Amino acid sequence: MNSTVALPQEQVPADRIVDVDMLAVPGGAQDAQKAWRALGSKYGLIWTPRQKGHWIATNGAVVEQIYRSPDLFSSSVPNLPPEPLPFKFRPLQLDGHEHRVFRAIIDPALRPAAVQSYAVRARKLAIDLIEGFWPTGECEFVADFALVMPLSVFLWMVDLPMEDRAMLQRWVHAATRGKTRQAIEEANISMFGYVSQRLAERRAKPGDDILSQVIRAEVDGRPLSEEEQLGTSVLLMAAGLDTVAAMMSFVMHYLARHPAVRRWIMENPSQVSVATEELMRRHGVANNTRTATQDVEIDGVMVHKGEHVLLPNCVHGLDENLFPNPEEIDFTRKPGLTGTFGFGPHRCAGANLARMEMRILLQEWLSRIPDFEVDPKYPVIHQTAQVNGIETLPLRWETESGRRSRADFADQGRAGPCYSDAVPAMVLTIDPSSRVLDLRHCRCCHCPAARRGGFWLVRLSTSSDGRTD
Ligand code: HEM
Repeated sequence: MNSTVALPQEQVPADRIVDVDMLAVPGGAQDAQKAWRALGSKYGLIWTPRQKGHWIATNGAVVEQIYRSPDLFSSSVPNLPPEPLPFKFRPLQLDGHEHRVFRAIIDPALRPAAVQSYAVRARKLAIDLIEGFWPTGECEFVADFALVMPLSVFLWMVDLPMEDRAMLQRWVHAATRGKTRQAIEEANISMFGYVSQRLAERRAKPGDDILSQVIRAEVDGRPLSEEEQLGTSVLLMAAGLDTVAAMMSFVMHYLARHPAVRRWIMENPSQVSVATEELMRRHGVANNTRTATQDVEIDGVMVHKGEHVLLPNCVHGLDENLFPNPEEIDFTRKPGLTGTFGFGPHRCAGANLARMEMRILLQEWLSRIPDFEVDPKYPVIHQTAQVNGIETLPLRWETESGRRSRADFADQGRAGPCYSDAVPAMVLTIDPSSRVLDLRHCRCCHCPAARRGGFWLVRLSTSSDGRTD
């Protein structure tokens, strides 16, 4: 995508002007988050002439101050450079009372209890995906897992068929990581068309899903217009797909290179939430925009009414004044609110869902594939953008007998997956007279709790030839 170069505002002090393109932050291909952090060596607020000119917050204090000042900084412009959209993303682009009423429409569907209702299905899906590629000893994590999981959850939330997943996956990928503006626009138009069509179907035949809730919703005693329904529904899809896929990819790229961190998570299964928070602190993905509603002094410099500020959330999590040795993963850190999900009234509505999906990934992946690495044949390139990301992440690992095909694997009479959170499974193979033929650790479960002699869930499997299934 081309970015426009504009002349810097003449009021900006010269030493705050840095020619940095948010789509290609220097060093961003190696470590996207570190690259954003490196912009803040001198000032907490710098100006770039790129994307028609905007400010960038470069430390945690400035990011948090701006998020927490919704009267001074509007959310009306979601992307840079500012471009008109056929509708507003609601509640993301709204301020004040209007924001509160639209946020109230989506919040109930994303509360912990509502999110928990997808947990069993999400876990089963994660297991099926991982077990699908595990025998081959390799996967391309972004396409094989990171994009599939959040899209599937979205389809359950809106009660739409799983057959649509591949098509939506292509559009989401093109819309967020497309190489040309035309490719991005075409993908966006396809997604808007898809959601619009589904909304029309639900208007004719409402159900209990989120789209039907949006159609039934009222704001200030009136129903939503079709444009408002579309803006709210498309946001639900857009906000939770690329962000989760990107976060999963960064975390897995990190884990592939840090065996000690993987080991800690496996040896401390009850601390999976702590691990999730710390990994997400280190790998902030969203870079949101605010627009000054009046002249205001921040970090010792005047931001003028109408000027845009980009808030890279990762610079909050990587601020050494808030988190000592911020680039290190340290699961013993004192818990603190990180910028990963933003602050203030727009703080992420889907954080509970994102956390659940991340926990499931860590639990189900590490219990099956405790050791894995990046396939050195392919470079892994980070991207800085509205949402930082990784386009492809080829991972590989050793299987019990080296790499095998899925067909070879099916012949082994392998044990079924362990669906419990922390309870490892043993497989007991017995003959028809209940004589024990074999007792072994379920291969799907390399859980360290089992090695420590923890708690066992025993599955019985009888068959005349003594095979386990
Ligand atoms: C790791 C994954 C995620 C990250 C890092 C993330 C991050 C964020 C951030 C930083 C914001 C604040 C935007 C702003 O202030 O301008 C936000 C808002 C939002 N997020 Fe997420 N998000 C994630 C996953 C999700 C999921 C799974 C959903 C589910 C639908 C979701 C739905 C939303 C919505 C609806 C908003 C707008 C809230 C408002 O404007 O009041 N997000 N997200």
